[in-house]
Amino acid sequence: MELIASHLSDLVLIARQIIDFAGDYKIWIIKGDLGAGKTTLIKYLCDEMDVVDSVSSPTFSLINEYQTAKGETIYHFDFYRIETEKEAENLGSEEYFYSGEFCFVEWPEKIPNLIPEQYLEISINFISNKRKFYLTRYGSEDIRDRAVD
Ligand SMILES: Nc1ncnc2c1ncn2[C@@H]1O[C@H](COP(=O)(O)OP(=O)(O)O)[C@@H](O)[C@H]1O
Ligand SMILES: [Mg+2]
Repeated sequence: MELIASHLSDLVLIARQIIDFAGDYKIWIIKGDLGAGKTTLIKYLCDEMDVVDSVSSPTFSLINEYQTAKGETIYHFDFYRIETEKEAENLGSEEYFYSGEFCFVEWPEKIPNLIPEQYLEISINFISNKRKFYLTRYGSEDIRDRAVD
């Protein structure tokens, strides 16, 4: 699925569409250059999921934890600053990934071997003031989830 935002306000609807597309997927990896809008998208996703905590970039903390009004937990990771996958392992990343809770991951490229088999990939492309969001669900038997060129 492909979505386009020309304005920040477009993210409200985009967040809704992403949540619907995600279905029961709990691991959402968000790819994109610095400044592409990964953290911003996560803020809108969290708003739409009724997160009661304030959402911020875990660039320094590496992991933030949020609760929704329904009592769900969301773990928000940013692996930009790590040098090796071992560092992510030492943070207990896999315990979070296999906890059954939501995990939103910025810079998943840093931990290719730690990402579970089933995940939603959101790839953000920022060109001429427009953000394009490409969504693919991986690790499903469902042929409808396969990426199409
Ligand atoms: N869809 C968008 N429309 C307009 N501005 C955006 C959008 N997404 C992000 N921004 C702006 O771009 C800047 C970088 O966004 P950020 O989410 O921090 O990027 P990243 O986490 O990918 O490094 C912020 O100032 C943010 O307000
Ligand atoms: Mg960020």
